[in-house]
Amino acid sequence: MKRRHFFKKSLIAGAGLSLCSGLYAWQVEPFWLEFVHSTMPIKNLPKHLVGKTLMQISDVHIGNRFNYQYIVDSFVKAQTYNPDIVVYTGDYVNYENEEQFIQLNEVLPFFPKGTKGSVAVLGNHDYGHRWQQNEVAHTILQSLQKQGISVLRNQATEIEGLHVLGIDDFWATNFAPEKVMSQFKPNQANIVLCHNPDVCDLEVWNGYNSWILSGHTHGGQCKPPFLAPPILPVQNKSYTQGQIQLSGGRTLYINRALGHLWQVRFNVRPEITIFELQQA
Ligand SMILES: [Fe+2]
Repeated sequence: MKRRHFFKKSLIAGAGLSLCSGLYAWQVEPFWLEFVHSTMPIKNLPKHLVGKTLMQISDVHIGNRFNYQYIVDSFVKAQTYNPDIVVYTGDYVNYENEEQFIQLNEVLPFFPKGTKGSVAVLGNHDYGHRWQQNEVAHTILQSLQKQGISVLRNQATEIEGLHVLGIDDFWATNFAPEKVMSQFKPNQANIVLCHNPDVCDLEVWNGYNSWILSGHTHGGQCKPPFLAPPILPVQNKSYTQGQIQLSGGRTLYINRALGHLWQVRFNVRPEITIFELQQA
C-alpha cells in the first residue's frame, strides 16, 4: 500500500517538474536577455579607442516564430548603454516571405547605433530560401544601410582607426573571404565579422591574428548542464559559444544570439555582448 502511494507521488512530482521546465524553456528563458561584459585587447589599437565600448548583436531573427516586441524592448535597453561602436553579425530575419521586410522595417528604428559607427554582415537566413535568394539579401542590406548601418560584403571599413573586415555568409551565394582578407594589414588594429564560425577552419585567413566575431550557433539554444548542446549547426562542434583561442593568434567570439530559430531555450540565455576595447 505504502509503496504504491510513494510511486503515485513520485509520478505526480515528476510530471509537475517536466511541466515547469517546459514552461520555463518556452516562456521564460527565450526572453531572459543577458548583457555579457568582456574585454577585447586589440593589437595596434589607437590610444583614443582604449576604454571605448563595442557592442555585438547577433541573430535577431525577426519574423513569425516569436513575438518580436521582445527584440524592440531589448534594443531599447541596449541603446541605454550608449555604445561607441555597434556590430551586427547576421541573421536579421526568419525569412518566410516578403512579410519579413515589413516586420524588419518596424523594428529597424530601434536597432542600437554606435556613436562612432555601426557595421554589419549578413547571415544565411538573410538570403531567403535555401540561402539562395540574392534579392532578399539585397532588400535587407538596403534597409540596414538606410538606418545608418553599413553592411560589409567581403569588404572592409574603418572606424576611427579600427579596421573592420566583414565576410559574407559561408552558406550563401556571395562567400568570397579572400576579397576582404587580402586587405588585412598586420600593423593596423583589426577585427573580423563573420556570421558562421566554421569559416575559421578554412585556409582563407592570410596571416590574420586578431578577433573574429561570430554568431550562427545560438549556443545550441538548449544545453544539458555540463554537456555539449545536442544541436549545433556547425561542422566544428567545439564552436558552441563564448571566447575560443584559435591558431595564428586569432581569438574567436561566438555570441549566443538575441533571437531564436524556435522559441525554446534551456541553459543558453540570449545575449548581447559589450566589449571594452584595450591595447594588446
Ligand atoms: Fe541564426
